Amino acid sequence: MRAGSERAFSAFGPGKVILLGEHAVVYGTTALAVPLSLGVTATAVPAARCSLHLPPGVRGPGRQQLRRAFARAAEAAGRPAVQVSLTSRLPVSMGLGSSAAVSVAVAAVLLQAATGRSPSPGRLRTLAHGMEGVFHGTPSGVDDACSALGVPIRFRRRGAQAAPLVRRLRLRRPFELVVALAGLRRPTRDTVAGLRQRQTRWPLRYRRLFQEVGRVAEEGVRAAQAGDLRGLGDAMNVNHGLLVALGVSSPAVDGMAAWLREAGALGAKLTGAGGEGGAVVGLFLKGEGQKARARLARAGVRCFVSQVKRTP
Ligand code: PMV
Repeated sequence: MRAGSERAFSAFGPGKVILLGEHAVVYGTTALAVPLSLGVTATAVPAARCSLHLPPGVRGPGRQQLRRAFARAAEAAGRPAVQVSLTSRLPVSMGLGSSAAVSVAVAAVLLQAATGRSPSPGRLRTLAHGMEGVFHGTPSGVDDACSALGVPIRFRRRGAQAAPLVRRLRLRRPFELVVALAGLRRPTRDTVAGLRQRQTRWPLRYRRLFQEVGRVAEEGVRAAQAGDLRGLGDAMNVNHGLLVALGVSSPAVDGMAAWLREAGALGAKLTGAGGEGGAVVGLFLKGEGQKARARLARAGVRCFVSQVKRTP
């Protein structure tokens, strides 16, 4: 829609799953992330002033964070005269990039309202990353980059000042992901801070683990690009072991990963920040994910399937 138009318009920010490399990515190694079909939609309607409408059910610190993040993006976009509201089908606080999806959807409608045009990918990412900073402190940027581009990416940070290296991945073969929810977890910033404390105390040991995560992620990227799904799955299993060593997994998550492998996953691991709960992702050949999902659902596990397309 054009700026000043009378009708409502909307933008979608997809959630994401990190297939390889979370946590270590904060310290400069490679991560592989793919967008989910579930996400957040932001809708903007003309209004007297720039504001965010939140339902009364959104309470506490989450509500305040959303307001602060919105204020930051609104300021950067020039406070266009719209009221923005949000709808989401993405589980919140599970490691599926819900805050990045909110950030991308909100940044996109604000920029569109301010300029009357679809935002450039660079501008969208800058605004969304600023909002992510309110939610997470010092995020690596992998979540908002994946959500803003909406395609599988290889991501690597290059220090505080330089822009991260973001590459769209060409996937030779499509696959399916089963995402299982292993219960509520602490906020990402707390789990990242806990790991930082251990890393500060024992820097050599943790650096070795981060480097190994990075190497496994690079190998997994090459496997994904070559269509070698077994190679990608094995990299995910090994990455999960390294996340256990980093102290960010939990018995519930480990059990869920084992279950997914028993149900036929080529690889399964914790995805996102983890901590006590969060989400677990299993990699399946195309057509195999639904059977595993049904099996998990019968056992009372909240889970869903997301398709990852071949990218030419
Ligand atoms: O759990 P999420 O969706 O917030 O993912 C966080 C990913 C981390 O690597 C743990 C942190 C980061 O900033 O990259």
